[in-house]
Amino acid sequence: MTNIVQEEVQQYIRELLPPRDELFYEMEQEAREKMIPIVEPEVGHLLYWLAATKKSRRVLEIGTAIGYSTLWIAKAVLPLEGEITTLEINAPRAEAACRYFKKAGVEEKIKLVFGDARELLYEQTGPFDFIFLDAAKGKYVEFLDKCVDLLQPGGILVAEDVFMRGMVISGEIDKRRNKTAVARLRSYLEQVMEHKSIETIILPVGDGITISTKKDDLSSMSPPLL
Ligand SMILES: C[S@@+](CC[C@H](N)C(=O)[O-])C[C@H]1O[C@@H](n2cnc3c(N)ncnc32)[C@H](O)[C@@H]1O
Repeated sequence: MTNIVQEEVQQYIRELLPPRDELFYEMEQEAREKMIPIVEPEVGHLLYWLAATKKSRRVLEIGTAIGYSTLWIAKAVLPLEGEITTLEINAPRAEAACRYFKKAGVEEKIKLVFGDARELLYEQTGPFDFIFLDAAKGKYVEFLDKCVDLLQPGGILVAEDVFMRGMVISGEIDKRRNKTAVARLRSYLEQVMEHKSIETIILPVGDGITISTKKDDLSSMSPPLL
């Protein structure tokens, strides 16, 4: 299993997306050529839509790569005078992201922090109203509580690639080293669904995403039906 969404469906949706800025196409090409994993355009559009709908202003991204998803979110957040902090451990990717932020004219408004999210995440000061988790899949479980902690009530946590090219669903693991990551992603999915402070939906979009909302008041959510 590699593709969660049928190719024809993905293609159909992609063709209906509004035209995107030229810079996005340039980034998609660089990512393709250098085999850098970035979100699909329809996932980028979903991130933009979520941030715009929620009127998010303080965003934290974990896993910048070359800044593609960052710029999708920025389209919604920066016109509202919002701010984005994004964390990346890979130096060439962080440099490429800075280059693209400059090209987009938003380098002053996006704080890229180079380093390991396993430390940097714990140095962040909340609350954030939007957190995008898109770094090493094996670390999602480890980061979950801290992300929830950093979210403001009503804020959203989006995690990408939760099906890991379908391996989380099929159990057919391509490389031995992915076994732990798959087990941890399954655990992440169970934990986000059971977590007392968030409500989560799992969507078969891109490579699988979860969208979790931090509860406003523990007593007011999930009231008895009658
Ligand atoms: C899937 S890519 C991010 C793609 C990006 N969000 C996009 O869609 O445009 C994941 C990135 O997380 C980074 N990463 C992995 N582990 C990390 C860590 N512990 N701290 C910070 N970044 C990390 C990787 O170097 C990689 O560039």
